[in-house]
Amino acid sequence: MAETITINKSLSEEEIYKSLLPQIESLLNHNEPLISNFANVTAALKEAFDKISWVGFYFLKDNTLFIGPFQGKTACTAIQMGKGVCGTSAKNKETIVVEDVDKFPGHIACDADSKSEIVVPLIKNEKVIGVLDIDSYEYAAFGQIDKKYLEKLLQIITGKLSFSCPVL
Ligand code: SME
Repeated sequence: MAETITINKSLSEEEIYKSLLPQIESLLNHNEPLISNFANVTAALKEAFDKISWVGFYFLKDNTLFIGPFQGKTACTAIQMGKGVCGTSAKNKETIVVEDVDKFPGHIACDADSKSEIVVPLIKNEKVIGVLDIDSYEYAAFGQIDKKYLEKLLQIITGKLSFSCPVL
């Protein structure tokens, strides 16, 4: 199977998501380790959107989110449940869109140049497995379109992959 994806960057962001999601779905392979699948998801998102400075997964273990596959600069390895944007999203089981990270109380700055962020919880059978965290160097880079399609993407992932073993 070809692991390449094709992105037409002249399309609207919504059109890019519509073309990207099926391509990511076809990259997923439930016979391969979860970590390998998540690695390519982060690469595909980074490739698709120039506004992304950092994209990665954190996985929950022992009430702490530990860093998983990501694309971008080195980042915080462990975030306590309920802390920062990631820990808050995991605790509340909801997507958080942050237009200006300096205005989010308790935001954890892994990269001082990061200006905005979206965090989407990865949930299967009501259990939080982790979060998808995406950062940008632009203010208000993420909105309702990103929320809608990233939530859809994570549903595709949890639907297609088996989480019978812990990711970490
Ligand atoms: N900003 C996040 C921490 C993770 S980094 O952005 C990669 C937070 O506040 O949870």
